[in-house]
Amino acid sequence: MKDLKKYLDANQERFLNELLELLRIPSISADPKYKDDVRRMAEATAEHLRAVGLDKVEVCSTPGHPIVYGEKMVNPKAPTILVYGHYDVQPPDPLDLWTSPPFEPVVKKTKLHPKGAIFARGSCDDKGQFFMHVKAFEMMSKNDTLPCNVKFMIEGEEEVGSKNLEKFCRDNKKKLACDMVLISDTSIIGNNTPSLTVGLRGLCYMEVEVTGPNKDLHSGVYGGAVANPVNVLCQMIASLHDKKNRVTVKGFYDDVEKLSAKERKRLNDAPFDEKTYMKDLGVAELRGEDGYTTIERTGIRPTLDVNGIWGGYIGEGAKTVLPSKAYAKISMRLVPHQDPKKTEKLFQKHFESLAPKSVKVKVTAHHGGYPVVVPTNSVEYKAAEKAMEATFGKKSLPQRGGGSIPIVAMFDQVLDARTVLMGFGLDSDDIHSPNEHYGLFNFYKGIETIPYFHQFYAEMKRGKK
Ligand code: BES
Ligand code: MN
Ligand code: MN
Repeated sequence: MKDLKKYLDANQERFLNELLELLRIPSISADPKYKDDVRRMAEATAEHLRAVGLDKVEVCSTPGHPIVYGEKMVNPKAPTILVYGHYDVQPPDPLDLWTSPPFEPVVKKTKLHPKGAIFARGSCDDKGQFFMHVKAFEMMSKNDTLPCNVKFMIEGEEEVGSKNLEKFCRDNKKKLACDMVLISDTSIIGNNTPSLTVGLRGLCYMEVEVTGPNKDLHSGVYGGAVANPVNVLCQMIASLHDKKNRVTVKGFYDDVEKLSAKERKRLNDAPFDEKTYMKDLGVAELRGEDGYTTIERTGIRPTLDVNGIWGGYIGEGAKTVLPSKAYAKISMRLVPHQDPKKTEKLFQKHFESLAPKSVKVKVTAHHGGYPVVVPTNSVEYKAAEKAMEATFGKKSLPQRGGGSIPIVAMFDQVLDARTVLMGFGLDSDDIHSPNEHYGLFNFYKGIETIPYFHQFYAEMKRGKK
């Protein structure tokens, strides 16, 4: 491993510059205008896989954005690691809140990243993180220390719900056959507090449309006599939480996993400073479900949030109008044992039941995803713990991630492979927000840690057989 560290130190400038090049490609999966850039990003990713010595590298077309694949089989007896990541990014809007353009990466120092962080859309989520695996592979390959077979599957639709990945996995079960899936697309607690993600929340994403009168009306001539769908929608939304900030959708909590006091304590043992958290976010108090800590509210409890709401006149100046329609996008984060399909139905029924006769409502579902729990007693997890300890010099804490990676549950079912979530970002890296960044410390620490994982995993698997 000493040789690898030397190789890393000697090549760190180049690794960084290669990542910066990838960050210049605006691979925004949600916006059809960027379709060619997304493909260009897939080609560039494939080129990197070829350059570091992976075989059978392909850019696999799907009805949506392509999936990049590559593999290196070194020994049929060695275990096979499937690395999953995504090369697509979220839209950068609102652009005017970026301190430098989102697709012109720059390195700047911050309080949490005194050695510098790369500012660009996708730097942390997930280009900077999947690229660590490419460079870790290069180091192992160049130093003739590839203890495991490695497959890469880097997709371009994670940020829009991985619509085509499940079919791809089902159609290519043989090609993707593996002993485990390794993903870096989550966070650690802090650069001094390594952690491994042991759970992800699921997602149920809905859109609602509320219609009042059959056309926009003069708000003076008709106001007061006819239901205003924007007013009604706001009332309906307000009723979706009770005084204790619990979600009122009937049946919402029925299947929620109950954690033992011991497990709750273990999660709450992680360092967390509420004052700094509030200060960083510019809020005077925190708000969430009664009876739970912030770590629990974002990790083990389900939530409901409005992501966007619109209707009526939102242009310059004032226009007096009683709008005909109002809309909202509402998402629910789910925890283990909750089912996104079931939640969809519960929400639809509940929301329809809230509507007064004066309006009509239409409820539609967007993509969803199942929650994930990662067992901590597996060989995979133990190898990850050992790898983190080797490079951070400290034990990692188990952490529940609040975000979602919907396809992880599918890997379990379709590929019968367990996942290790070994991400290196920080929750404060502003993913999906303006000024997304990724610490240089984190980027290099990831590259350093991944080969240890391969090494320990191969050894521990051998020991088990
Ligand atoms: N990498 C994130 C998920 C994440 C971030 C998990 C931080 C844990 C910690 C992923 O790219 C993401 O943003 N997922 C989406 C879901 C998707 C269906 C759009 C999310 O969580 O909103
Ligand atoms: Mn991601
Ligand atoms: Mn994301």
